[in-house]
Amino acid sequence: MNKTNLIFNWGIIAPGRIAQNFARALPVVPNGRLAAVASRNTDRARDFADTFGESGYSVRVHDSYDALLADPQIDGVYIASPHRFHAEQAMAALQAGKPVLCEKPLTVTAAQAKQLMAEAEERGVFLMEALWSRFLPVWQQVRRWLDEGRIGQVHTLSSSFCVHMPFDPENRLYDPELAGGNLLDMGVYCIAMSRFVTGEDPARVVSSVRHAPNGVDVRTAATLEYRDCVSQFTSGFLSNRDNSMLIEGELGTIEVLGQFWASTEARLLRLNGRDNEPMETFSEPHRSNGFEYQIEAAQQAIRAGQLECPGMPWAATLGTARVMDQILREGGVTYPFL
Ligand SMILES: NC(=O)c1ccc[n+]([C@@H]2O[C@H](COP(=O)([O-])OP(=O)(O)OC[C@H]3O[C@@H](n4cnc5c(N)ncnc54)[C@H](OP(=O)(O)O)[C@@H]3O)[C@@H](O)[C@H]2O)c1
Repeated sequence: MNKTNLIFNWGIIAPGRIAQNFARALPVVPNGRLAAVASRNTDRARDFADTFGESGYSVRVHDSYDALLADPQIDGVYIASPHRFHAEQAMAALQAGKPVLCEKPLTVTAAQAKQLMAEAEERGVFLMEALWSRFLPVWQQVRRWLDEGRIGQVHTLSSSFCVHMPFDPENRLYDPELAGGNLLDMGVYCIAMSRFVTGEDPARVVSSVRHAPNGVDVRTAATLEYRDCVSQFTSGFLSNRDNSMLIEGELGTIEVLGQFWASTEARLLRLNGRDNEPMETFSEPHRSNGFEYQIEAAQQAIRAGQLECPGMPWAATLGTARVMDQILREGGVTYPFL
């Protein structure tokens, strides 16, 4: 096969902060290439293309998202806008027949996620939530330890995603119009990675939400009850924590160290009486910034003609979205645009 046929041409919609991470990771993704970028602001798109384009290859700059969706040379679209716009933009991409990798959370509500999945299914077009943590080498190692029964039956998960961010109504994270709040941005990882470990949705969710002066959620404390285990997490803008994740089983514990959603290191400890005895450590730096693994997985699934990525099943996206729906509903959080 001609090498150029192997190249996977990505188009980026909404080249903001996180889109830069995506573009920085692309050079280490085999065959991945930034081919086009679309912004509401053409200068921003042009700057982005100039900064991240592969040398010797010009990145097409589109002055509207629709123009990028009509670009016949795009193999996949990465959507990196604030959550509020994901549902509409992913729907437009699917309707244009473009495979979609969309930032987390895939949508603001589970109902919107379901609509996208129905559209993807009907049109036979790929759809994936960019929950990059699931693809990191350290989390793949955690999966292997769990599957090998190294800590036995898991009974307790504990995690946090707490980063201090003072109230600022100008910040996207505090803007109800953009579906701001900590849960959809940060708590989503605690729920999604609990699902990654348990492989199921919780039977019961108990939570408590604290609000900012404008009503967005600034802290969530929740307990998710699964068949055989429980996951407790706190996420919020009010404090800083070490933000590791503990996975405790009948035989031992796995510690996902550092910021668990971006981790490069985990430890396996075995119970020995009153002590936790170190058994094994896994440590592997990201090849780039960690986004490369999900991009590779998306490319492979799209090239294989799959509608969903095996590493990021729709059921997992939907399960997490349903938990967030419930926490926000019971916590009295509403968005003006819904
Ligand atoms: N995976 C991760 O680690 C990670 C980390 C942070 C964020 N995220 C996710 O990435 C998404 C974007 O976050 P971000 O921090 O990158 O956002 P951002 O930099 O504030 O915005 C990204 C882009 O979205 C568009 N946009 C921003 N504000 C808008 C508005 N008011 N109306 C319409 N479009 C607007 C703009 O696109 P134009 O250039 O077209 O104007 C902007 O360039 C969120 O869903 C977030 O959850 C993921």
